[in-house]
Amino acid sequence: MIYTVLLPAAGSGKRMGAGQNKLFLELRNVPILIHTLRVFDRDPNCEQIVLAVKKEEKVLIERLLKEYRVTKVSAIAEGGEERQHSVYAGLKAITTKGIVLVHDAARPFIHQVVIQQLVQAAHTSGAAVAAVRAKDTMKKAVNGIIQETIDRESLWIIQTPQAFQYTILEKAERLAEVENFLGTDEAMLVERLGERVHIVESTYDNVKMTTREDLLYGEAILNKREQEE
Ligand code: CTP
Ligand code: MG
Repeated sequence: MIYTVLLPAAGSGKRMGAGQNKLFLELRNVPILIHTLRVFDRDPNCEQIVLAVKKEEKVLIERLLKEYRVTKVSAIAEGGEERQHSVYAGLKAITTKGIVLVHDAARPFIHQVVIQQLVQAAHTSGAAVAAVRAKDTMKKAVNGIIQETIDRESLWIIQTPQAFQYTILEKAERLAEVENFLGTDEAMLVERLGERVHIVESTYDNVKMTTREDLLYGEAILNKREQEE
């Protein structure tokens, strides 16, 4: 089933501490951003890719798209102060009103199977997010004192992609802007509308390149996948 992917790429990568947007850092000599773009460029069901980037990085990114022959990018929007602003800017640049997947440009290892399940779930139910089960015991603490142990069975660690019918996500983003609400993911904005958001079980290797040690993990994932090919 056909979809559009929106990749917010306008962050600063502060936690990576590289002094530049972490998406330009390389894993096996290829920028993280390109690894992520390739997943969607190669997926026949992905009909267009929309990027949200920093104004001052647009030229560099356009150069990378040419160099690595990424062909499906249909629009490059100007990102905003917060991730949510970047996503909304990207959403406004989407021309088709079908299924939209929002995916962190910093998560290059998402599996094709999960993408398809998300698209299917959003088509059927409106909204779906990728998630994995919490592996460790989870407790709630206030000021360093444990208040309770939370039933792990009901806990999910939420990732991206997050898939939506365009009209639902558009309404959620618009309302959040009007009400000055800043969420930590798109699902949160859609939950506020009273819409049901479904979970699609993803994989633990769909990690976000956030801190230095994630790069080591990223290289290891690429090595493993190469051996399996
Ligand atoms: N992002 C964005 N616009 C922002 C902030 C983030 O498009 N204003 C993007 C990032 O480029 C990244 C994704 O959202 O692809 C997830 O964000 P995160 O991992 O937090 O990346 P950064 O914000 O760049 O990193 P940090 O929070 O460490 O500064
Ligand atoms: Mg951030």
